[in-house]
Amino acid sequence: HPTPASLLTIFGATGDLSRRMLLPSLYHLQAEGLLPEDLRILATARTEMTRDSFLQLAAESIHARDPGARPDDAALQGLLQRIDYLPAGTDDAGSMQALAAQIQRLRRGDVLYHLSTAPKFYGAICQALAAHGAAGAGTRVMLEKPIGNDLASAVAINDAVARAFDESRIYRVDHYLGKEGVQNLIALRFGNALFEPLWNSRQIEQVQITVAETVGVEGRGDYYDEAGALRDMVQNHLLQLLCLVAMEPPARFDPTAVRNEKIKVLRSLRAIDQHSVTSETVRGQYSAGAIEGRLVPGYAEELGRPSQTETFVALRAHIDNWRWSGVPFYLRTGKRLPSRSTEIYLQFRKVPHSIFGGAAAADMRPNGLLIKLQPEERIELALMSKTPGLDRHGLRLSQVTLDLDFHQEFRHAPRRIAYERLYLDAIEGNGTLFVRRDETEAAWEWVDAIAEGWREAGFAPRPYPAGTWGPGAAVALLDRLGHAWRE
Ligand code: BG6
Repeated sequence: HPTPASLLTIFGATGDLSRRMLLPSLYHLQAEGLLPEDLRILATARTEMTRDSFLQLAAESIHARDPGARPDDAALQGLLQRIDYLPAGTDDAGSMQALAAQIQRLRRGDVLYHLSTAPKFYGAICQALAAHGAAGAGTRVMLEKPIGNDLASAVAINDAVARAFDESRIYRVDHYLGKEGVQNLIALRFGNALFEPLWNSRQIEQVQITVAETVGVEGRGDYYDEAGALRDMVQNHLLQLLCLVAMEPPARFDPTAVRNEKIKVLRSLRAIDQHSVTSETVRGQYSAGAIEGRLVPGYAEELGRPSQTETFVALRAHIDNWRWSGVPFYLRTGKRLPSRSTEIYLQFRKVPHSIFGGAAAADMRPNGLLIKLQPEERIELALMSKTPGLDRHGLRLSQVTLDLDFHQEFRHAPRRIAYERLYLDAIEGNGTLFVRRDETEAAWEWVDAIAEGWREAGFAPRPYPAGTWGPGAAVALLDRLGHAWRE
């Protein structure tokens, strides 16, 4: 059984993710006294720099994350004194050997590696660690996405890592699982008896999962243009959300039980292929437009060349099992949409029989449960109520919402970076909120069929002006079954 790590080794420690998320998360964990007393941190990257200059970079990154915050000098010093820096090139045998030697010197027990480099280096890093005896018992490894860009490349990366680490020691990050709102989804479903009887095709008409962003591709054009919204977001974040919404209750909140249930959902997804892509999916690419009143260029212009990559995708998924048979799960994600918003919406079936005639019958709306994860966490339940007052034609109805705002409810809880939870769990050796190999590969298999279908059907992205909710076809996709995106 894993024990708390005595050494955390971060590869790619000078990179963007490290500066924006990882170092600030470690600082918060330090400030809250959540890092093991004796934990050492060995930062490494290609960049030649001294320990002092790395510590300066770390301090600046931590400050930049939250420039308005009152600095906690004790926490900062407490964190910095744990850190060493050693440059190493993954293809340079000498420097990898020196790194492995340093790891052996610093470790007092378990070691956690965090690979925050381009995934093409994962295999080489793991091989080098294994070759120098630094990947054996008591070590584990955390991997960033993307694990490949299709099933074949994901299998190749997973195989290469598996030669050095067995699956129980591999922690694949999907940072959405580190978000408070996403864990709250699990708490909501399995901490309340109220929802379970409603959570099935008899009660639920349709489910919508939206991850909307206002940002464009932000200087990541080369990566993004190879990936597109389907691979960048649907393969991982949206399918993980779908799994958490749709899975059967796991017997326990532990890595095996939870992931066994998620994989069943992924394996129950009905394939979308070249015969169904045109009816079941929508691809879009943003053109010039306006976001919050600011003019922004189109995707191709930002990229500097024409492109057939989608920055928006909407699709109708079906989970072919007893619980969800016949319930469409609409997924949609895109860049340059009107607002940043991540939400899950479950629309319930209509009342079986309306006792109201006339105008009140026309007032009727189905009940809906909205679970909003970003930018703020809230839960809304839409109900019908009597419209107050008198009406000559009888009773009228209005839709009202029960509204729970978590920020209000837990006013003193600081906003979290997803990596705080993920680091804490990986350091402690708890893999529940990490993605297992079979999940990644099943997700790729499903996504590959769609990408392949697009290719075979010659299905090009349609333009949508930045600042709109994607191509009109995304509305038509729901309209066909009499549904509509939640406004
Ligand atoms: C990343 C994607 O995995 O998630 C990005 O590569 C995307 O394209 C990001 O912007 C969204 O994450 P968050 O936490 O801002 O919702």
